[in-house]
Amino acid sequence: GAPVEADVSKLAPGEMMTVEWRGKPVWILRRTEEMLASLPKLDDRVADPHSDKSEQPEYAKNETRSIKPEYLIAVGICTHLGCSPSAKFATGEESGLGADWLGGFLCPCHGSTFDLAARVFKSKPAPTNLVIPPHKYLTDTTILIG
Ligand code: FES
Repeated sequence: GAPVEADVSKLAPGEMMTVEWRGKPVWILRRTEEMLASLPKLDDRVADPHSDKSEQPEYAKNETRSIKPEYLIAVGICTHLGCSPSAKFATGEESGLGADWLGGFLCPCHGSTFDLAARVFKSKPAPTNLVIPPHKYLTDTTILIG
């Protein structure tokens, strides 16, 4: 499949958009400072904190799983059996996922949960973090995926 271009110039902090690449949904989430601050707190609650067993380009194998910390770019397909997780950006009790929920994604099929770097929480059916697709920045606000 051909690479796809995404224009993120209208994406506000805290917002997510989805583009299609090779028939798959690719999420682009513009993370707020608060969202980014949640990540290091979750290292001991996620199954593969340093993404050693997960799939991503070498340049996205870092704490935020991204080139620019602000933008998470991930394939929105669960690594368990391929359902599409939903965004659950509310935190705490408001999320329905418990008082210690800091925001992330929930797979409706068998309940895998992921943080805001698409890292799967421990003891969930998904074996690895969501896939980070190959991508690069053509300009500050134009991303080429694929
Ligand atoms: Fe997502 Fe099973 S397909 S938890």
